Order: sequence, then structure tokens, then C-alpha cells
Amino acid sequence: MDRFRTIIEPFRIHAVEPIRITTREERAAAVEAAGWNLFALHADDVLIDLLTDSGTGAMSRDQWAAIQHGDESYAGSPSWFVFLESVTELWPFRHVIPTHQGRAAERILFSVIGGAGKVIPNNTHFDTTRANVEATGAEAVDLVIAEGRDPAAIHPFKGNVDVAALESLLAARAADVPVVFVTVTNNSGGGQPVSLENLRAVRAVCDRFGVPLFLDACRFAENAWFIKAREPGQADRAIPDIVREMAALADGMTMSAKKDGLANIGGWLATNDDALAEACRNVLILTEGFPTYGGLTGRDLEAIAQGLREVVQDDYLRYRIRSTAYLGEALDAAGVPLVKPFGGHAIYLDARALLPHIPALQYPGQALAVALYVEGGIRGCEIGTVMFGRHPDGTETPASMDLVRLAIPRRTYTQSHIDYVIEVVGAVASRASELRGFRMVEPQPAALRHFTARFEPLS
Ligand code: F0G
Repeated sequence: MDRFRTIIEPFRIHAVEPIRITTREERAAAVEAAGWNLFALHADDVLIDLLTDSGTGAMSRDQWAAIQHGDESYAGSPSWFVFLESVTELWPFRHVIPTHQGRAAERILFSVIGGAGKVIPNNTHFDTTRANVEATGAEAVDLVIAEGRDPAAIHPFKGNVDVAALESLLAARAADVPVVFVTVTNNSGGGQPVSLENLRAVRAVCDRFGVPLFLDACRFAENAWFIKAREPGQADRAIPDIVREMAALADGMTMSAKKDGLANIGGWLATNDDALAEACRNVLILTEGFPTYGGLTGRDLEAIAQGLREVVQDDYLRYRIRSTAYLGEALDAAGVPLVKPFGGHAIYLDARALLPHIPALQYPGQALAVALYVEGGIRGCEIGTVMFGRHPDGTETPASMDLVRLAIPRRTYTQSHIDYVIEVVGAVASRASELRGFRMVEPQPAALRHFTARFEPLS
């Protein structure tokens, strides 16, 4: 296989979903009606949807077959035991608590262990993780290595935790730290992996201060593939083996099965701590459901169980990581500024570098995301000053970066779809100086404004 350069999708198409070809005029009208906010579009008006890789992938024939086995018993469903066996095959934690998605696991965990005066370190908190920490009054601290904050810095494990910074935080405040988190891969830092060596070092520091270590494991299989490909001594290991070593280094995890569960919905919280599990199950019953289904149907549990068996296969992961890099390499060759090295699930365009004539407070990421939609019907996601620029006191400052994330749904688009994306991004980049910024319509939404804000183009 390695003799040939073409990336073969390791599947053939079994059921097709039509996508609707629109004209430039139709798209210009649709985005204007949406207040120039791509979240407000009808998805029917989108040709290639790269808004997120969460819950948007294709399920396999065997997942759809597993759905037919779904048993909807309220308590003790056989589907629960199928799910539990599949989860613990990779993540042998004593307690597994199913939830409807990742943020539900976060909410339950932090409502039990968070609270005012507490501080939660992470390499980089994902936005829902940070929001769930802060909602309890606790403080969320990001401690990724310095390379992880520089879009152009090349490092094989740019998601690694700054162990010295963690050590000094714990030396000063260990009693206030109920858990240390590591996000694999580090989504908010560009989908960058964490090495086993770094996880071992974090574990050693946690042990020294008696603090548990949890993983936010949404993209664990992609992280394990990067370990196999990049970490000395790991090349010959099987992916499930690497995953089990990640599990052995942790005391628990939160998970969104919408990513490396290869499912459209679902998640879980896992821990080895009996008292913590009991407290979390009590919250679960209040808000999500009985402990053998969480917020899920039996058929969802079956789809996740099968997804977990598929996501750790070499053919799938080789294709997954290579096909994402293929998009990055082509855009890089075309001179489009990008976050490097390329992450596992997405390519991040550096809108601030591409559009230096648009000040950050006129939202270069928004300008680029809208242009990609109008030009070719591609929907990406601004990750920049629109998303992070507003502060609780109502003031606004530039975010640290203005990026547009092109997230790749799993097993959904073919290489020709991606070739089309490459052409469209190239066409927009070649007329970058013509793009104009945006103004946000007042009054702005009070929180998470990027989801519902409306914009006006500046002339
Ligand atoms: N943690 C990480 C690292 C995530 O990327 C996400 C979701 C979550 C937690 C929350 O999981 O959506 O199931 O509640 N990320 C999606 C994204 C939404 O587009 O990156 P959830």
C-alpha cells in the first residue's frame, strides 16, 4: 500500500445522502438572511459542512446493524452491557456512567468536585469544559507547553502539559485542586496530541501531590495514532494497547462519543473512585436518567459499542490522519497560512495572517468563514475574536488568534470533496485583499455570542 500516494478511503459507499448544489447568488442571499452568521444557515444550503466533527460522521453498516439490536429496557438493558464491555475493553475503569454527550459528563463531574475556591488545570480546556468548571465558581487554568500557543511552532506533541507549571501550581495550591485534566487531542489548541511520556510525567506529579488525573478523551484514538506514529518506541504497538496505557495512567475520564465513539450522540464519565461515582450517579439520575442508560437509548449504546471497535483499527486511523493532513499540505503548498503541524480532526486557517488589512475587532475569521461559504458553499467555524473577544464586563479585546477551523466529519467526505475545498480556499485566498470585515449588531447576545450574534458587513 505504501508504494502508492493516493489515500484510499477504507470503505465503500453503502447509502448516499444527497448534497444540494447552490449558486453563488443563492448563497449570498442565504448568508445575508442569516445575519452573516453561519450557525444560522439552513444546513440544506451548505455544500460541504466542516463546522464540526462532532456527531456529524457516517456510521458503518455494522453500527446500523447494531442499532437493530437496541434493547430499550429502562434498567439493565442488554445494550448497556454491550456498551460497558466495549468501553472497558479500552478503558478498564471501575465505574462507567453513560451520558447524552460529553458536556453532560463534565457538568455532573464538576458539580460534584468543583465550586468556589477550586482550580482545575488542563492543557487547554474546551469551551464547554471551561464553562462547566466556571459555572460552579471554580477557576479553569490552561497549562499547555509554550509551543502549543504558537500557531507556527513545530513540535510532535504540541498538546503536552507544561509539567513544571503544573508542579508549581500544585506546590502552591494542591488542596484546592480536586483533579488535573488532560485533553487528548488538545482540540482548542489545534487538535494537537499529547505523548505518553508527558502523561507519565503528569501522573508522577499528580501522585506526588495526591491529586487524581482525568482525561478529556474525546479524540483518544487519533491521539493514540499520533503516539504510534511519532513517539520513540511506540511504532510496533497495537492502538488498543496504547489506549489502555493511557487509561492506566489516569484515574478517570470524560468522553464525547460524538467524536471517537463514531456515533451521532453519546458520552460517558468513568472513574475508579467509588465515592465519587456514587455522588455522580445521584446527579445523573436527577438530570440524565437511570445509570444503565444515562441520556441515551439502547440503540445509541449499541452504536457506540460498535464504533469503539472500529475507531481503533489501523486502516481507519491511517486514513483519518492522512486525509486531514492531505488538506493541510495542499493549502500549505498554496501559501495559505495555517496552524502547524496539522491536527487529527481539523485544519485551522490563520485568518489574521491571511487578512492583515482587517483589524481583529472587525473579525477577520468571520470575514474568511463567510467568504468560503459564499464562494463555494463550505461552512467552517470562526475560532477567534467573535468566539473569545468579549469579556464578562462587556469590554472587547482581540482573541489570541483569529482562526477558521475546517473540521472533518469522520468517514463522510471523499478526496474529491476535499480537492474541491482546496480549490475554494485557494480562490478566496487569492483575492484576500478584497475581503472586508464585519460589525456585530447590537445588542449582542449575553453569553456564547458566536452562536446567535448577527453581523453587518463593513464597506
Ligand atoms: N471536550 C472536547 C475536547 C470537545 O472537543 C468537546 C466537543 C467536548 C468536550 C464536549 O462534548 O459536544 O459531546 O458535549 N467539541 C465539539 C467541537 C462540539 O465542535 O469541537 P459534547
